[in-house]
Amino acid sequence: MNKLSLRDIDVRGKRVLVRVDFNVPTEERDGRIEITDDTRIRESLPTITYLREQGAKTILMAHFGRPKGTPVPKYSLRPVADHLHTLINHPVIFSHHTVGEDAEKIIAHMNDCDVALLENVRFQAEEEANDATFAEALAKLGDIYVNDAFGAAHRAHASTAGITRFVGQSAMGFLMEKELEYLGRELEEPAKPFVVIMGGSKVSDKIGVIKALMQRADTILIGGAMANTFWKAMGTPVGASKVEEDKLDLARELLDLAKKTGVKFLLPVDAIEAEEFKAGARKRNTGKVTEGHGITDGWQALDIGRETIALYEAELATAKTILWNGPLGVFEIPDFADGTMAIAQAVAKANATSIIGGGDSVTAVKQAGLADKMTFISTGGGASIELIEGKELPGVAALSDA
Ligand code: 3PG
Repeated sequence: MNKLSLRDIDVRGKRVLVRVDFNVPTEERDGRIEITDDTRIRESLPTITYLREQGAKTILMAHFGRPKGTPVPKYSLRPVADHLHTLINHPVIFSHHTVGEDAEKIIAHMNDCDVALLENVRFQAEEEANDATFAEALAKLGDIYVNDAFGAAHRAHASTAGITRFVGQSAMGFLMEKELEYLGRELEEPAKPFVVIMGGSKVSDKIGVIKALMQRADTILIGGAMANTFWKAMGTPVGASKVEEDKLDLARELLDLAKKTGVKFLLPVDAIEAEEFKAGARKRNTGKVTEGHGITDGWQALDIGRETIALYEAELATAKTILWNGPLGVFEIPDFADGTMAIAQAVAKANATSIIGGGDSVTAVKQAGLADKMTFISTGGGASIELIEGKELPGVAALSDA
């Protein structure tokens, strides 16, 4: 992916259109929308600050939520503009229109070093349809296009891909570059042993990525509800645990593939089972899980047990590269967070390059207070999975070659 980088372009005095991923979690408090985690906004600051220092006019565009092509007030980017203002300590001009005369007028009045944010690109159905006329209208607002929205790079939308047909130069921003470096290059030829932790609830979401990693990893540690599907496929009783019944054949196929590739593919050897899926439910350790002994009838596995923690800790202690995607238990409920928190500690302690591949595992690492102990934490969810899987990301492919 030898693409043009922002640092290779002269941006002084130019209007630079930057696609960012400001799709941040929010909560409504007293009728106001509050941002509960601003990581994605903060991670785009190196690009924004650089553009201001270089004397460019920065025009930011982003999506927020899934408003399905119409303006939905709760998905307005206005609160994000206010938040960005406090982060860069400079006013952020907000355009209530994404494209058209009003937006053009606002941009015409910008001074060098100013920053503007356009209203949610998804308020227009043409965005997700990757409509050429809409892409052209966006392109009209700038001289140069920069894509820094790694989290949305797996979407072929007007503001992430289509737009590049209507601008002279399209480059990667600094966050995009960093994500591609860690999730792309670093994982292509990882320092060995390369240990992968795969958790989360569904095998079906991770088939491609597990298959791709089997070719590169030395060890894959499985946790979360996806372990139940593997157990059931092997004939281990799973009680009332969550299982993807229609994915049992697939689980068997993956287990066979693991044997063929020679990757060490480890499932939990014990679990914390509970009578109900809720805080305060009666819980206990299952003891060793085997073909004949697993989860008790009517009970469900909600976390990995201490034997599994010890086994996985030992694997992680030898690793030189670690990739973690997905929690090992229902860590949102403190009764079932021990496994995920212990693994976060083990990753932090390992003398390895540690890469946290987006989504819930990022939340878990933050909850454990260990974010600054990790080498790299991705801002992408779906995008990071697709990149590791080896898929081409439309938002990257569309950029100018270096
Ligand atoms: C994300 O939050 O993963 C990205 O912003 C992409 O959002 P989307 O799944 O709604 O396209």
